[in-house]
Amino acid sequence: MNKNKNLKVSIVMGSQSDYKIMKLCEKTLKNLGVLFETKIISAHRTPKRMYEYASNAERNNIGVIIAGAGGSAHLPGMIAALTSLPVLGVPVESKKLKGLDSLLSIAQMPKGIPVGTLAIGEDGAINAALLAASILANSNNKIKNKLKSWRLSQTKSVKKIPK
Ligand code: RP5
Repeated sequence: MNKNKNLKVSIVMGSQSDYKIMKLCEKTLKNLGVLFETKIISAHRTPKRMYEYASNAERNNIGVIIAGAGGSAHLPGMIAALTSLPVLGVPVESKKLKGLDSLLSIAQMPKGIPVGTLAIGEDGAINAALLAASILANSNNKIKNKLKSWRLSQTKSVKKIPK
């Protein structure tokens, strides 16, 4: 693993149409002060771009990859096959099957090439960013402290009595 403390999170998505969900990753990482980049890469429409990206990811100072895709969502698994960096998959809600197809495509990776799969849609995008930040926090105390205060303010925001 790259020992550089300024590793970034790379957010990739299969289509521009995924951005309405995947921009929540950006928002969450910004709040935590985590460096990131964002790209559109499609496993089936731009396979050469995907190969170039994934095979060079480690030397491009990436620490964690978040890949969002919908439908027959092979992007996270294909990227994971090309790099040993941790890959987190966000199933984007599809028109026909409400994201169940995306979820199963990402979660049901055969043994040997893991993809950490999050929830469908917005919750998954936000949690993917939080999890990516936790992974980088193992070697970055600044991110660790940001995560701790983020959780503390979440705890404080829960009222004891409903109004
Ligand atoms: C997938 O197909 C993308 O990740 C997207 O969720 C889905 C639909 O893509 P578009 O037809 O909107 O470009 O590759």
